[in-house]
Amino acid sequence: MKDAYKTREQLINELRTLRRSIAKMERAKCKFEEAEKRLHKKLTEHEKLSALGRLTANVAHEIRNPITIIGGFAERLNKNIPSGAKEKEYAELISLEVKRLEDILRDVLLFSNKPFFVKKKLDINRVAVESLNAYKILCNQRSISIQRSFGEVTPVYADKKHIKEAINNLISNAIDAMPQGGSLTIETNEESMNRKNYVTLKIADTGIGIPEKNLNLIFEPFFTTKVTKKETGLGLSICKKIVEGHGGFIKVDSPTGKGSVFSLYFPYRSQ
Ligand SMILES: Nc1ncnc2c1ncn2[C@@H]1O[C@H](COP(=O)(O)OP(=O)(O)OP(=O)(O)O)[C@@H](O)[C@H]1O
Ligand SMILES: [Mg+2]
Repeated sequence: MKDAYKTREQLINELRTLRRSIAKMERAKCKFEEAEKRLHKKLTEHEKLSALGRLTANVAHEIRNPITIIGGFAERLNKNIPSGAKEKEYAELISLEVKRLEDILRDVLLFSNKPFFVKKKLDINRVAVESLNAYKILCNQRSISIQRSFGEVTPVYADKKHIKEAINNLISNAIDAMPQGGSLTIETNEESMNRKNYVTLKIADTGIGIPEKNLNLIFEPFFTTKVTKKETGLGLSICKKIVEGHGGFIKVDSPTGKGSVFSLYFPYRSQ
């Protein structure tokens, strides 16, 4: 209908509808602008982080050699000093601290470099058993019982060394979370999510749990709540990097007071 034939009421209604649409568009525009700002900020942070990562990797690389040399000489000194001498104790201390520095550097290098994965067909159950065996004695000493529930899972296509590193980090965190003892469960399975199939590995503990406010922070590099000085707070960020580097993802659940469950999801590949 031409505007000339419309009643005053109709014209007012149309004007209202038009104003409502304009208001909606303005709200949408604001939202888009906010999203654009957020993404821009993230991009800048990302660029800063990768520059920092490169710098850290270079520094870590440079100090690695002198540290190895110091460690080597400390061992030689240690061998030549008769037992019982005070100097032997000092040499042992140097070796111990050098080992700690080497571990930190290894973590930092692993975190700041793009890890190079050598992917092969891998039985995740076997890797889990190997990791568990490495922690058996410690679990025993800490009154932690181990439960295993291994499914018949399809092999994943993955780098054994790195997957083991991820599992070890999770087991080590679970042990730290149960200073009074408890139960550590490791479970493998196959699962579907959003119409995709995954091979999963879950590590559950009955420990202190994770406060909700920390759930978003724990995967950030250098975030740690531990105060023993030996932690770098890189364990979970490394796990995340490893799993994502295999096309998978990591998830955490920590219902208050009931411990935590960390789940690794690896893409299912039909064999
Ligand atoms: N199973 C768990 N139960 C309770 N808290 C956990 C658990 N796993 C991780 N966290 C929390 O997440 C933080 C980060 O873990 P992450 O493994 O990255 O570092 P870390 O264990 O503190 O140090 P690092 O692994 O470098 O020795 C921990 O300090 C702890 O607060
Ligand atoms: Mg850790």
